[in-house]
Amino acid sequence: MKIGVIGLGTVGFGVVEILTQQKDRLEKLIQEEVTIKYGCALDQVTLPDSIIYTQDFHDILNDDEVDVVVELIGGTTIAKTIILEALKKGKHVVTANKALIAHDGQEIFETAAKHHVKIYYEAAVGGGIPVVVPAKEDLVANEIEKIEGILNGTTNFILTLMETDNLDFQEALTIADGLGYVEADASLDLDGIDAAHKICILAMNAFEIFFDFEKIQCTGIRQVTKKDIDYAKKLGYRIKLIAQAKKLEQGYGIDVSPTLIGIKDIVANVNQAYNVVEVTCNYLENVIFYGKGAGRYVTASAVVSDIIKTHQPTMWQHQYNHVENIYPITYSKYYIR
Ligand code: HSE
Repeated sequence: MKIGVIGLGTVGFGVVEILTQQKDRLEKLIQEEVTIKYGCALDQVTLPDSIIYTQDFHDILNDDEVDVVVELIGGTTIAKTIILEALKKGKHVVTANKALIAHDGQEIFETAAKHHVKIYYEAAVGGGIPVVVPAKEDLVANEIEKIEGILNGTTNFILTLMETDNLDFQEALTIADGLGYVEADASLDLDGIDAAHKICILAMNAFEIFFDFEKIQCTGIRQVTKKDIDYAKKLGYRIKLIAQAKKLEQGYGIDVSPTLIGIKDIVANVNQAYNVVEVTCNYLENVIFYGKGAGRYVTASAVVSDIIKTHQPTMWQHQYNHVENIYPITYSKYYIR
C-alpha cells in the first residue's frame, strides 16, 4: 500500500504519526507493506525523511504507485476535484470531509463504484467514534427507524460550560475558541451546519437515500441563553444541540435543533466535546455510539482505520499470537473502578 496524504494540518500529522508508530502491527495484520509515499501541503512542513513532500497534489494523482489517497484539506472545491480525480485513476480514497460527502456524496460514490474503488469517510462523523460504517454495515439486518445524537463537539462544550460555569453564550464561546475548538468558520459549529452535514451523512447511509443537503433545516445555539438553561434544569431537562433523522409516515425528517432532553437520558449526560449517536432500529432496538468527537489523534484514528480497510475487506482472521495465562484484574468482592 502506497499512500498520499493531501492536507497536513492537525489531523494529517496525526495520521503520519499513527501510521509511523503502528506500522509493524498494521503491516502484520494486512500482510503487506504500508508506506506513506507523499505528504502534500501548501506550506513547507517537516516530515520523516521517507516521505516525499510536495505542494502539488498532481504529483500524487499522477503516480501510479500510489493506491490510497487521503484527502484532509476540507472544503467542497479543490477537495472535490482531488477526490474525483483520484477515484477516476483507480485509487482508493479516505477523507474526513463531512461537507463534501453531505453535499456531493452521490457523485463521489457513483464515481467510486464506476471505477471499482473504495471511498471511506469514517472520520467525517463523530471524530474517532466508529459510527459511519457500524451504523450501516453492522446493522444491515435491521431497518433503521431513527438516528439522533450530539454530533458537534464545540457546541456541546459551550452548552456544558454555560451550565457548569454559569456563563453566558459569548463567555463560553470565547473559552471554546481559546481552546481551539471552534472551526475557522464559526458559523459551521454555532449555526448547526456542521451537525447537519453529519446527520445528512448518517441518514444517507441508514436510509439508502441521497438527500438534498440544502433542504435540511438547522438551528444552532446562538439563541440559547443562560436563563433557558436554568429553566430547563428546573424542569428536569438539559439543552443539547440534537441532530436527528427519522422515517416519517411519508418521507423523512431531518433537522438540527437545540432540544430539551430529560436529565436522566444518556444523551443528556454527554458533556464537554463528546459526541453520541443513538440508532433505533427494528431488531436491535436501540444502540448507542459514544466517544470523543474531535481532536488530532481521535480523528486520525478513524482515518488510519479507513486506510487499512481499503486493503482488508474481511474480518481479521489470522496472525494472532497465543497467550497462556490470563490474570484476574479484580481481587476484592466489591471492586471500585
Ligand atoms: N467542529 C467539529 C465539532 C469538529 O465541533 O464537532 C469535528 O468534526
